[in-house]
Parts: sequence; C-alpha cells; structure tokens
Amino acid sequence: MQRRSLVAANWKMNLTVPEGGSVAQGILGAASKRADTDVVLCPSFTLLHHIREVVAKSNVKLGAQDVFWLAKGAFTGEVSVEMLRDHGCEYCIVGHSERRGRFGASELPNELLAYFSDSDVVVERKLRAVLDGGLTAILCIGETARERNEGRTDEVVASQLKIALSSVDESEIPCLAIAYEPIWAIGTGNVCEPDEAQRVCELIRSEVGAHMGSDAANTIRILYGGSVAASNCAGLFKQRDIDGALVGGASLKPDEFSRIILSA
Ligand code: PGA
Repeated sequence: MQRRSLVAANWKMNLTVPEGGSVAQGILGAASKRADTDVVLCPSFTLLHHIREVVAKSNVKLGAQDVFWLAKGAFTGEVSVEMLRDHGCEYCIVGHSERRGRFGASELPNELLAYFSDSDVVVERKLRAVLDGGLTAILCIGETARERNEGRTDEVVASQLKIALSSVDESEIPCLAIAYEPIWAIGTGNVCEPDEAQRVCELIRSEVGAHMGSDAANTIRILYGGSVAASNCAGLFKQRDIDGALVGGASLKPDEFSRIILSA
C-alpha cells in the first residue's frame, strides 16, 4: 500500500524569531518540489505565530512539540489543543522521549529529571486530546540504550504503543503517525541501522494490526527518528515500513533538511 511520506522537523528548544523565520524560509523551495510529501515544522510555542506567516502560502504545515490534555483552566504554563489550532497548528508531537524524561546521554541529576515526567498514561491523555481536537498526532515511542542492551526493545515499544493506543479508534488512524525513536540514537549521531529500524517499524505496524486490524496497520504512517541526516536518510527511506522521519538537529540547517525532504 502506498502511504504518503511525512517529514517532520522537531526544532526542540532552539531558534529565535528571526532565526526560525530564516530556517523556515530556507526549506520552502525543497518542500514545494514534493507535493507527494507532508512537510511539517514543529517550532517552540513562541515561534508558532511567526512561522505560520512564513509558511502561509506554501505546502509546509505547522506542528507543536507538546500539549496539555485539558481544554482550559488553572494549569499555569500549559498550552491547550485549541490554543495550538488557534496558531495554525495541524500536527502535534506527543510523548517525545525528552518529555517522558527518557534521555540518551542525560547530564541531569535525578531531582531535575523529574521535571520531564510524561508517563505512558499522560501520553495517552495527550494523544486523546490531540485527536479529539482534530490535529494529527506524531506519537513517539522508543527504547533506551539500557533497555536495548537487556534485549527489551520489542517489549518496551509494544507496551508504550499499547497504552497510548488504548482509546484510539481505527477511524482515527489517518490522523496518527508513529515515530520510532530509539533514545540512544537521539542527538548522538549514532543512527539506528536501516535494517534494525525496519525490523522495529515492522513490529510496530504488526502491533497496530493486532490492536486495530489490517486496514489500520496498512494505513498508519511510521517514521524513524534519531540522528537522521542528509547522509543517512536514503537507506532509512528505502525501508518498506518507514514512511518518513522525525528530524531534530538536522532540521535546524535549511540545506540539510531540504536534502532530507527531497530524498523522502
Ligand atoms: P535528532 O532528534 O535528529 O537530533 O537525533 C530527533 C528527535 O528527538 O526527534
């Protein structure tokens, strides 16, 4: 089955308004050549307003990096799905490992690590809110280096997926993409070998099938994320079960990100 490619930029906590504007401007040309690919920029909340204007007349879509699951109220510092929609967001990343407090090479002491505390249940709530609010979710799952070394990759990924998908209906699958992001590969330059990324993405697809049937499994878009670069993306994009990428560091460089878009 032919699935539409999706290439999303996770800018994380980087770029000011002028910097973000110029990076966004720098990828419009590549994106315009790829009518068959969804290109999404996920800047920090403070940049949404400006980036929306920069991409307004293009095929580039806007997304957020995180969201709170309730609609409004006394939740200081949080942002709702409606607020994201208000700013033109069509996508939202949910359950990124950095929001889950699962870092590859973290230098944070435990008492600070607790700040990044999204549990599987919180991720499920956020996913529910994003889908209910009519946005497309990019759900991130993946194992740490330790979990991989203990041979627990498949179990961890399947369990994160099962909890996150517990209230998702098959009809919502077109509004969901799953990003397999091995945590040891994020920001390390240590990209997962394409064969192994394919193996885990195939497992994810079959888990979706087991929970929601084969139509859902064939429709859902599965991305790989973790040290994706222009130099390594072709091997990943060739894989049968990889429909695109979630790109961090390389998405901050317009030329590099443009090359990734063009090879998707
Ligand atoms: P990276 O980040 O491309 O810098 O490894 C990917 C991500 O965290 O989504």
